[in-house]
Amino acid sequence: LDNGLMKTPPMGWLAWERFRCDVDCEHDPKNCISENLFIDMADRLAEDGWKELGYVYVNIDDCWSSMDRDKEGRLQSDPKRFPGGIHKLARYVHDRGLKLGIYGDMGTHTCGGYPGTPLDKIKIDAQTFADWEVDMLKYDGCYSNVTEQEQGYPLMSEALNATGRPIGYSCSWPAYQGGLPPKVNYTQLGKICNLWRNYGDIQDSWDSVLNVIDWFFNNQEVLIPAAGPGRWNDPDMLLIGDFGLSMDQSRAQMALWAIMAAPLFMSNDLRTISSGARSILQNKMAITINQDPMGIQGRRIVKEKNGIEVFWRPLSSNASALVFFSRRKDMPFRYQTSLSKLNYTTGSYKAFDVFAEKTVMLKDSTDFVVSVNPSGVVMWYLSAPAKRHLRQFYKGGRS
Ligand code: GLA
Repeated sequence: LDNGLMKTPPMGWLAWERFRCDVDCEHDPKNCISENLFIDMADRLAEDGWKELGYVYVNIDDCWSSMDRDKEGRLQSDPKRFPGGIHKLARYVHDRGLKLGIYGDMGTHTCGGYPGTPLDKIKIDAQTFADWEVDMLKYDGCYSNVTEQEQGYPLMSEALNATGRPIGYSCSWPAYQGGLPPKVNYTQLGKICNLWRNYGDIQDSWDSVLNVIDWFFNNQEVLIPAAGPGRWNDPDMLLIGDFGLSMDQSRAQMALWAIMAAPLFMSNDLRTISSGARSILQNKMAITINQDPMGIQGRRIVKEKNGIEVFWRPLSSNASALVFFSRRKDMPFRYQTSLSKLNYTTGSYKAFDVFAEKTVMLKDSTDFVVSVNPSGVVMWYLSAPAKRHLRQFYKGGRS
């Protein structure tokens, strides 16, 4: 969507995967969906080095609203759990240099059973979100049919635009229509939405991550052309820092989300996150790759019988990213290949290992070995070596 927003994939935090529809503030005050949860996460994003890296969205998901609209027919937040209201929360978030996202549903009810935004409520709800100074809307699709969605998703896009407030627009539409043409029209989605959920919900397990990865890369020929600045495929939230992934699996999710040019919405508890998970999510080079300004989504280029897969993404300044991924379950696998085998053109390259933070120089023809852990990755950022390095390189020296 050409609204000037999300020229690179949006980054931030989204409540759903980690905090779901926990509305029991009486017994679980720290984890329930309430203004305190979003205030806590905003504080962490602003104070723990996240904001500077680009993680600026603080996004509310389902179960934030009251069960009834107000006398004027507007959505309202639950008065017990959001005593200050959404507008005040937006101010709080903005004062810390962050943005606030909210959730609605194209249908009679949200997936969690709260009031939806069906066709006749689109204009009023778009205006309410704008009045509250909200910066992004995730528009889900429970409790509506194909015909209503065909009308509702474009209508909401127009209604948001008509408010005059820049509001990033995330459409769950394709996820409700199987994610593939002919039922899904990605050209149209790119014109009306900034991002869209293509596929089912991610859950806190490696199985779920594998399932998402397989769907996205098995359908890459359809999905890659859909993505670009202002329009992104969304494979759903990052689970890093939760309970289901090992450190290797966490690096794998980070690496493959970077290859996919995916939105980076963490759904975790930033108050208690481990330093290991934090350093993966805050890896500067992984973020740089994810945020590349050309915005070309990467692809799987190798799928070996031995369980090794290789992914590639072209980047600006003649750079590129490679991810060596292992689906194996035995031990670190020593994968031998060369850049020419991976279709790189003749020349010399500087390869920066994103997680090991080490550089190697190699020529396209050089055979090399990467050791890839079970359900882990090795990720490289490849660029043309600086001229002075090149000279040393051809003399056989080290840089
Ligand atoms: C759907 C969406 C999820 C989440 C829930 C909320 O399942 O796909 O991301 O928003 O609804 O109920």
